[in-house]
Amino acid sequence: MADVRAFRVPAPRGGVRLRGVTKTYGTGDARLNALDGVDLDIEPGELVVVLGPSGSGKTTLLNVIGGIECPDGGELTVAGTTLTGRAPRELVAFRRDRVGFVFQFFNLVPTLTARENVEVIVELTGRGQRAEVPGLLEQVGLADRMDHFPAQLSGGQQQRVSIARALATDPDLLLADEPTGALDVATGKTVLNLLQEANRQGRGVLMVTHNASIASMAHRVITMRDGRVQSMERNAEPADAAAVSW
Ligand SMILES: Nc1ncnc2c1ncn2[C@@H]1O[C@H](COP(=O)(O)OP(=O)(O)OP(=O)(O)O)[C@@H](O)[C@H]1O
Ligand SMILES: [Mg+2]
Repeated sequence: MADVRAFRVPAPRGGVRLRGVTKTYGTGDARLNALDGVDLDIEPGELVVVLGPSGSGKTTLLNVIGGIECPDGGELTVAGTTLTGRAPRELVAFRRDRVGFVFQFFNLVPTLTARENVEVIVELTGRGQRAEVPGLLEQVGLADRMDHFPAQLSGGQQQRVSIARALATDPDLLLADEPTGALDVATGKTVLNLLQEANRQGRGVLMVTHNASIASMAHRVITMRDGRVQSMERNAEPADAAAVSW
């Protein structure tokens, strides 16, 4: 007989492996190593927080892992897919199937309702079910706001739409770039809670933040400096998002 627990405990996914990954912008005197040889292992199912000063390469790291940017060198495998040496157009399928993005300023389409913002991703990617969209919005606490436009929603509500949008394709890995950066503490915590919940369902979560308090909820905390991983620490007991405060 099948082990019932196998159905209850989601298999961890969304592992990441980087070896000597570089990314350079500009040429000549303006040349800049945004990533200067990054080695990094993220285990499937880990929630990792990335800290570091402005310009240290955090967003570049996230974008390279998410297939938005191509690295110039090094080796990169994300959720079982080797991204090294792929052309930008080849990364489209990877992005569509494997990762979900959450941005600081939500990036919702202003002329679409909350529901339509999520539906459009289901339509475009062919992943997930249109009929499941209301349920997803309900899960993020927006049952009564589905037919509102972004301008009719608070920042926290907009970010929750964007989390529902990111989850609609059931990604292996969620990449969040300062997801609470534009939110107050109480609203930010509801967003952290949703990201933690997504992680507890087995997904990898990689979250960039300027807010060191958020590091307490991570399994691991990475600090970037000058395009390199400066330090990596493991949290023996990651905190509940509800206990995080700043
Ligand atoms: N498209 C680009 N063209 C040229 N330079 C870029 C580009 N994107 C990033 N950079 C440069 O690469 C470096 C790393 O940028 P990145 O956005 O990754 O930093 P960050 O750690 O996310 O900073 P912040 O905390 O301010 O968001 C910076 O010096 C930045 O100016
Ligand atoms: Mg950034």
